[in-house]
Amino acid sequence: EEIEKGGYDHFMLKEIFEQPKAISDCLRGRIDPDKGTVTLGGIDSIMDKLVNANRIIIAACGTSWHSGLVGEYLFEYLAKVPVEVEYASEFRYKEQLIGEGDVMIVISQSGETADTLAALRAAKERGALVIGVVNVVGSTIARETDAGVYIHAGPEIGVASTKAFTAQVTVLTMMAIKLGLSKNAITIKEAKKLISELAKIPQKIEEILQNTSEIERISNLFSYAPNFLYLGRSYSFPVALEGALKLKEISYIHAEGYPAAEMKHGPIALIDEMMPVVVIAATHHTNDKMISNIEEVRARKGRIIAITTPKNDEVGDLAEFSSIIPETMDVFSPLLSVIPLQLLSYYIAVNRGCNVDQPRNLAKSVTVE
Ligand code: G6P
Repeated sequence: EEIEKGGYDHFMLKEIFEQPKAISDCLRGRIDPDKGTVTLGGIDSIMDKLVNANRIIIAACGTSWHSGLVGEYLFEYLAKVPVEVEYASEFRYKEQLIGEGDVMIVISQSGETADTLAALRAAKERGALVIGVVNVVGSTIARETDAGVYIHAGPEIGVASTKAFTAQVTVLTMMAIKLGLSKNAITIKEAKKLISELAKIPQKIEEILQNTSEIERISNLFSYAPNFLYLGRSYSFPVALEGALKLKEISYIHAEGYPAAEMKHGPIALIDEMMPVVVIAATHHTNDKMISNIEEVRARKGRIIAITTPKNDEVGDLAEFSSIIPETMDVFSPLLSVIPLQLLSYYIAVNRGCNVDQPRNLAKSVTVE
């Protein structure tokens, strides 16, 4: 096992650090920045159906559900197609208003999650086309879907998912660009710009991973906090949910992720000088609004930890602590902003003496209901 960990203390840390490679592997041979094209062999044969889809329903569980939420923003923005994201466990028992003309995308790292498999079977039974976004090659979900794209993240051992999340988001991004091009929702010129930037993401993740000292310092200061709040808007909202989930899973700290503006409808009542509030201010088009949210937290003496970029310097100035990530286009920001959150949960869990790779009560793959 020590050899498999490759010199890292835990599989989770190894997998966090593997993300530049995992994303490069996921992109390899699939994008051409010069031509502005995306090639995904696994969905070529069903592209016509995808182009003509009335809507896309994404079904998944856990972290994969969070990447699905990022997918919703991506598909709606880049391909102008309406998307609904369902917890697979809810979809399977509700009125299933799905049929021919609809496309379901199921997302699963393991390809074995019972609820996700049941959602896929229900959608197929009703005539929908089902596309898989899966890591484990030959898994049940990969076999039962009509078409699919492997994320090629390599084996993920740590129970808390890290590199699978970023690789899933990478695949959904490529799919959204490809669909956007096919539907003429984006031009070749726009696609070239997007794809050139996407190709730079592994290097930008590497930059974040090369300097973890500030996030370690923040983790040391907040390891004993009983609660955390995570706030984000737009693409950063699912990242807020994912950051909170990571902390819950491995540190056993109660954490809630919220769309920043919803804070005033409840969570704001919890804010006092004891409450760390992680603000993901990495999307420029929502920056002004995030600044107002930060001011609301500050007025109540909440402790602000901002994940932000050099251009959002006002956020950096207002926050008590900040982790600065490289600039990118808003659509790609989850691929970068989630990295400091993975590290924050990891360092806090280690400080608290938790079993990082095998957290209590959790399983890597949930094959029962
Ligand atoms: C479990 C794992 C999570 C994972 C979820 C969905 O809860 O602990 O890390 O996100 O299942 O798993 P899947 O394999 O379908 O992505």
